[in-house]
Amino acid sequence: MNSVFCTCEKIWINAQLATMDPQVAAPYGLLKDHIIGVKNGKITVISPMHKVDINEFHGEIHDVQGNILTPGLIDSHTHLIYGGQRSLEFTQRLNGSSYEEISRTGGGILATVTATRALSEDELVEQAQPRLEALLNEGVTTVEIKSGYGLTLNDELKILRAAKKLAADYPFHLRSTLLAAHTIPPEFRNSPDAYIELICQEIIPRVADEGLAEAVDIFCEKIAFSAAQSEQLFITAEKAGLGIKIHAEQLSNSHGAELAANYSAWSVDHLEYLDEAGIKALKKSGTVATLLPGAFYFLGETKQPPVELLRQYQVPMALASDLNPGSCPLASLRLMMNMGCVLFGLTPEEALQATTRNGAAALGLGEITGTLSVGKAADMLLWDIDDPAQLAYQFGATPLLQRIFAGEISHV
Ligand code: NIG
Ligand code: FE
Repeated sequence: MNSVFCTCEKIWINAQLATMDPQVAAPYGLLKDHIIGVKNGKITVISPMHKVDINEFHGEIHDVQGNILTPGLIDSHTHLIYGGQRSLEFTQRLNGSSYEEISRTGGGILATVTATRALSEDELVEQAQPRLEALLNEGVTTVEIKSGYGLTLNDELKILRAAKKLAADYPFHLRSTLLAAHTIPPEFRNSPDAYIELICQEIIPRVADEGLAEAVDIFCEKIAFSAAQSEQLFITAEKAGLGIKIHAEQLSNSHGAELAANYSAWSVDHLEYLDEAGIKALKKSGTVATLLPGAFYFLGETKQPPVELLRQYQVPMALASDLNPGSCPLASLRLMMNMGCVLFGLTPEEALQATTRNGAAALGLGEITGTLSVGKAADMLLWDIDDPAQLAYQFGATPLLQRIFAGEISHV
């Protein structure tokens, strides 16, 4: 057997590979007339067709007849485990109340906290399933899931355990993030610092001990936590060996992104109010700027994130769904790609980078997945399209022919 094939169990032939690999100097990292081979869940071979003799391969062959393979999509920011729904608030907002006002009067995140606390782990899994399935069915192979609707030790653990259950039942890579600092719980209304203490002294150590999350996140905003409180959390997260993420500059500029960058955050997310000093800090630390056009759209925001400046400083941009019951109940990463282009002015290529390679980096998975490269996970999507730009161009009709997760063709 040809030595190239010794390392393959399966191959896809006659493929156009939109590798998204920056080493490949073509738009989308496109390689035409290639084969891609996999073994033990990883990509083992990428080669031009003319350099191999297919007759020497005796494993599983998929002739894709010129169709396009991309990396699996990565939704690097979701809150998809929660109880209930908030259509009442949607109605209130359309009648003139703002997201901030609703949140200040006990609605918003706290309404979902009440509904989430009332559910068991299994009930949470059940309610999250359709949302997760919607993402996976359109080609998502890695999903980040945040806690943040429990706000007690046990309720936060319950959400993170529900995430593990979902990961055991469905074909996707899970990255869990502890977002106990999502908002100030009612029990600590008058003592938010004491809640931060609880998170740092009890919740983070327990979550780290049980291996229930890979990162810590905080909502740094006037209606939630301050930059000083965020810093305290980052110091603890760093000591616990957890990655750092932040919800920052969504409704105002609290300089949370700059602070998080100084702690080598994996990503800073939202960013409508991000300024140039923040962008410089992101550039320096290599932190990903995650844009959430679904929340911008759903809340009817008008302040645009500084996309052109992020481009100028070559800060990697990710796009994610932010799937949650309040600011973005839209379970579609493909829709976010379209919105990233239409609302924020990303190019279709940037939108695909944002949901593959940069999404991986936003989760500390840059070496593991996010591009079609030898050695990375064989998370691949085969599409019935002529041009990778179609992935951002159209939404609704899903031209997905095969979803390949860790080398296995996987139906959700
Ligand atoms: O990312 N900004 C804070 N958290 C979520 C919204 C959560 C909610 O409204 O339930 C967000 O937009
Ligand atoms: Fe969020």
